[in-house]
Amino acid sequence: MTITVIGSGRVGASVALNCGLRELDSKIALLDIVSGLPQGEAMDINHQLSAQGIDSLAYGSNNYEDMKDSDFVVLVAGVGRKPGMSRMDLLKTNGTIVKDVASKISTYAKESTVIVVTNPLDVMTYLTLKTTQINKSKVLGMGGMLDLSRFKSFIQASANVSRDSIQAMVIGEHGENMLPLVRFSSIGGIPLQDFISEEIGAKIFEETRKVAAEVIALKGATVYAPGNAVATMIEAIVKNKRQVIPVSTMLDGEYEISGICIGVPAIIGRNGVEKIIELELNELESEIFRKGVISVREATKEIVL
Ligand code: LAC
Repeated sequence: MTITVIGSGRVGASVALNCGLRELDSKIALLDIVSGLPQGEAMDINHQLSAQGIDSLAYGSNNYEDMKDSDFVVLVAGVGRKPGMSRMDLLKTNGTIVKDVASKISTYAKESTVIVVTNPLDVMTYLTLKTTQINKSKVLGMGGMLDLSRFKSFIQASANVSRDSIQAMVIGEHGENMLPLVRFSSIGGIPLQDFISEEIGAKIFEETRKVAAEVIALKGATVYAPGNAVATMIEAIVKNKRQVIPVSTMLDGEYEISGICIGVPAIIGRNGVEKIIELELNELESEIFRKGVISVREATKEIVL
């Protein structure tokens, strides 16, 4: 089974390492236009996997043709936001890059399942889907899986319980209008609202939205959590786990929305998005979700297919 990671910067390398650590018995190809970078990252990753007795094998290449016949392609290529920028500020620059890379995926890995990471995530997922013409169930955006990891971190700090007991859900735009769902999160199967006050819920809601920018301001990029989130999605598909996680995917009437990609809960299994789950959102949740839809739809209109 071959996973190709396009973009071998810090996030791409984290994706490759996290996939290796999942012991999926995979070959992991790191691609980048920078000569030597993917090769060096692959060597470093192999040394760790070797020490841990894990047989997944990483290798680096500067040739897009080496993604040929990959089972998975992870699209990380593009520029990351600088401190103070929003993810949407990357629309034009990354739109050009993603369109080019997606056309190469269409040429060399048309049968692959594509996990999109590049921001603005929901719009780049849509652009990748339209450019590759791969079945929409096999083009998934990694956003909500990452957002819920942050939400869980704040829940743990507020409720002082094991992280392993926390189930969290974050949907909507992977951006300024993301929607952490207190009502659909729990601790040990017990509603989160039984553990934290409405005030604390509102506080961790806002913290979840803002924390990525704080990490970027401190260290320049978010790296480990995105890599893990991608590996979780790939593992759910490879092992046909039918795991319920939020992913950015094309809506075709779900939530009364069509024609954009945005984060929604879905059953993830061997076919990628097996089923989209429609939650009964309350008035406030629906309002926030709709704001994200408007933001994503406006940005989607700006891209040139
Ligand atoms: C983040 C970037 C990957 O949320 O959008 O860290």
